[in-house]
Amino acid sequence: MREKLRFEKPITMPRHQVAGKQATGSTKRIWTASSTVKSDWTFHQIAPYIGRMKTSMARALILDNSKKGDLIVDPFCGSGAVALEAFASNRGVIAGDWNPYAVLLTRAKLFAPKSEQAALKRLKATWKLSRELLPKQDLRTVPAWVRRFFHQDTLRNALAFRDACVERGDDFLLGCLLGILHHQRPGFLSFPSSHLVPYLRSRKFPKNLFASLYEEREVLPRLQAKVLRTYKRPIHNRGLTRRIHRVDARKFPRPKQISAVITSPPYMNELDYVRDNRLRLWFIERSLPKGLELVGRDREAAFRELMRSVCARLAPNIKKGGKFVLVVGDATRGSGRKGRTGAITRQLFKDDDAFREFHLEKSYQDKIPDVRRSRRECKGTRSETILVYRKR
Ligand SMILES: C[S@@+](CC[C@H](N)C(=O)[O-])C[C@H]1O[C@@H](n2cnc3c(N)ncnc32)[C@H](O)[C@@H]1O
Repeated sequence: MREKLRFEKPITMPRHQVAGKQATGSTKRIWTASSTVKSDWTFHQIAPYIGRMKTSMARALILDNSKKGDLIVDPFCGSGAVALEAFASNRGVIAGDWNPYAVLLTRAKLFAPKSEQAALKRLKATWKLSRELLPKQDLRTVPAWVRRFFHQDTLRNALAFRDACVERGDDFLLGCLLGILHHQRPGFLSFPSSHLVPYLRSRKFPKNLFASLYEEREVLPRLQAKVLRTYKRPIHNRGLTRRIHRVDARKFPRPKQISAVITSPPYMNELDYVRDNRLRLWFIERSLPKGLELVGRDREAAFRELMRSVCARLAPNIKKGGKFVLVVGDATRGSGRKGRTGAITRQLFKDDDAFREFHLEKSYQDKIPDVRRSRRECKGTRSETILVYRKR
């Protein structure tokens, strides 16, 4: 049933070289080793998200397991890779996550303005409002760890723009702001720092040698450039269901007539979604969210319990012939036992009464390229198991 996938040259591989393929079945869908490919919808690149699903994998799983007009559900939507690919392929989408950054990013992608022109018009109006909000910015209310990343004038302008986005309910532009928040490149707002997990790069770029990198950075031109980059390859679908909830997956709404649940649950706390996204998260609510972790000392038990409650909640509302597709990261840290998440999930679908109508149709094993792991040197999650269940 399971096929081990071989990788030739990960990361640099052109899009159409096989990196992943079906173990069984008639159609051959492939995905690439790299997390992003040049022909991707540029909405995927609004801002980074650690643990994101490869876009080509999301697309392949959607095309293989649903058809146009179907409803796709993703209760752990993260960056919205599945949601955006589903929507771009003319599927309806109901997605959710308990992390405000994930929800904002997914909404930014699915509710983006119709055209580049419309986006620039919105930017102009929001920027205008931010000028009114600028005098209200008091950096003494901003924690020191946030202030360390920015020139004070850049930070004041960025916060005024953030407030204007919130006042206008503009998730797209707030997503764009978060997308240029920190990096070492000139198009970004922070002092030189990393792009994924926020760390200052002051050792590599000391202030005395790289003074220009520590000057004020104008926010508006950088936002304009970001919007233009985002509309290089936009999606054009409109009119289908698209609902994004901020919700604990254990309380996810129960939409009727689901054609496929396609989702990647958290990797047994392998990734810390709050710590790793802390600067962007702080900007969203001017504070960090609390309680976003699997509780309990026994990570395996917590993972099993989460999976059971989420899967059992959604399973009855999947149509006959519909799919439950789970992409689970195989943890190697902690328990030391490889492949536990895949094994736990399979066991659950085998033993639990709630899933007796589901049978395992396909499974794949896939490697995660280094670029998708936040801390390359640590063991972390190196491979994923993809399980495709079909409802009889
Ligand atoms: C592996 S990531 C999903 C990645 C996503 N497929 C993507 O492409 O970005 C797992 C997600 O589950 C979310 N999460 C963890 N526990 C959750 C819970 N109890 N309820 C809702 N979301 C949860 C995390 O915030 C994270 O975004």
